[in-house]
Amino acid sequence: MKRDLPEPEATEAFAQQLGAALPADTAGWTLLLEGELGAGKSTFARALIRFFGHGGAVPSPTYTLVEPYDLPGRVIYHVDLYRVSEEEELRYLGWTELEDGFRLVEWPDRAPGLAANADLRLRLAYSGSGRDASLEGLSERGRVLVETLAETQSED
Ligand SMILES: Nc1ncnc2c1ncn2[C@@H]1O[C@H](COP(=O)(O)OP(=O)(O)OP(=O)(O)O)[C@@H](O)[C@H]1O
Ligand SMILES: [Mg+2]
Repeated sequence: MKRDLPEPEATEAFAQQLGAALPADTAGWTLLLEGELGAGKSTFARALIRFFGHGGAVPSPTYTLVEPYDLPGRVIYHVDLYRVSEEEELRYLGWTELEDGFRLVEWPDRAPGLAANADLRLRLAYSGSGRDASLEGLSERGRVLVETLAETQSED
């Protein structure tokens, strides 16, 4: 599904809509956040993390690689692979230890193997002063979710 995001608030609103459509149990889910520098990946991730009840800051995981959020009924891992140059490095990051949470991954193209086990892919692209978004389901449950979201949108 496609979405016009003319300003940052539209990116945040879209993240909240996705949040509302996600199941109560997102353990093991992965959302890939694609787009060039400044496309709005962190803006989207931050709004989603706040939607699920986080009140404080959402620091960039660029240097820590992973920022965990232990929220009511749900663990979220905000991952930024910008500095990861080889898939090998994912092992050091402890990817397999993030199974209990919902993984939001910026710069997933650094580890091409991730897409095979991911559920959702959000692509953000510059469009004038705003952004274009395209959300795609990669797994069966991801496709079902995107369909549901697209139906809710067409009812607006
Ligand atoms: N829909 C939008 N329209 C216009 N500006 C936006 C939109 N969404 C986000 N922005 C702005 O783009 C800037 C960069 O956003 P953000 O840091 O989220 O990008 P990013 O993709 O995470 O960047 P990086 O590649 O550095 O991690 C911010 O100033 C943010 O407010
Ligand atoms: Mg970012």
